[in-house]
Amino acid sequence: MARFSLLAVALAQLQLTHAWGNLGHETVAYIAQNFVASSTKSFCQKILGDDSTSYLANVATWADSYKYTDAGEFSKVFHYIDALDDPPKSCGVDYDRDCGDAGCSISAMLNYTNILLDSPDSSEAVDALKFVVHIIGDTHQPLHDENLEVGGNGIDVIYDGEETNLHHIWDSNMPEDAAGGYTPSVAKSYAQLLTTRITTGAYSSKKTSWTSGIDIDDPVATSMIWARDANGFVCTTVLDDGLAYINSTDLSGDYYDKSQPVFEELIAKAGYRLAAWLDLIAEHSS
Ligand SMILES: *[C@@H]1O[C@H](CO)[C@@H](O)[C@H](O)[C@H]1NC(C)=O
Ligand SMILES: *[C@@H]1O[C@H](CO)[C@@H](O)[C@H](O)[C@H]1NC(C)=O
Ligand SMILES: [Zn+2]
Repeated sequence: MARFSLLAVALAQLQLTHAWGNLGHETVAYIAQNFVASSTKSFCQKILGDDSTSYLANVATWADSYKYTDAGEFSKVFHYIDALDDPPKSCGVDYDRDCGDAGCSISAMLNYTNILLDSPDSSEAVDALKFVVHIIGDTHQPLHDENLEVGGNGIDVIYDGEETNLHHIWDSNMPEDAAGGYTPSVAKSYAQLLTTRITTGAYSSKKTSWTSGIDIDDPVATSMIWARDANGFVCTTVLDDGLAYINSTDLSGDYYDKSQPVFEELIAKAGYRLAAWLDLIAEHSS
């Protein structure tokens, strides 16, 4: 019994270390829930068979578990696009250069958007919707749009006295510090705070520009706009201090302070864009 519960705790902790972190993905999903049209809400709830008030948040991290199953291994590459740019000197994402034969986040957006448009009543639509919710979140984590050191996984750092890596602090440590935890209820209140910034606060005058170029007939071009947006921050924020600084400084201080406004706006953008994309899918779905 004791051994079983220790195992359960270990497994729960493992879950918490997954990409964007559960907090980031669930926050993105809750923000999107705050902005979708009511017809989109019904469309999504019907596909997912979930009429609860957390219907998108409940599936936001599914893709991070699925990729570790035998059946889902093919989808590992759908969580990122490995931009072969040269940060911090020059950033940029190129679909033909960077997507790779096995696919990437951008090709997955095309595939799963088309499944939802063409066959929303099929059994494939369930996973397709879960992927879209997750992948738009991942696309807004700058290091999911970067090849260098496996998206920063190979760059060891110290954060709050603990050894971890650069990818992980962008996925989890920094957003969790900003939100004040990692549970679904923290995600819900963090989403509320960022939603208020979008509707009446600091982001309200920018939000129209966030969906500029959005085109349901071109999921690749649309998600490339979003990937380039996030990738740009690899040069201006994630790596601009240089590796010598990043390797030798506890990043929970000044580095966290300068990064917080960047990841918060990216999480807000991801949620707002996800809502807009789901609205278009629901509207154009056959
Ligand atoms: C599209 O999605 C299906 C279902 O997950 C998958 O089997 C297929 O390999 C995907 N195709 C591409 C090109 O990503
Ligand atoms: C920083 O650490 C990474 C690996 O964690 C290494 O590849 C890189 O050469 C180091 N750079 C500097 C300037 O210390
Ligand atoms: Zn992921």
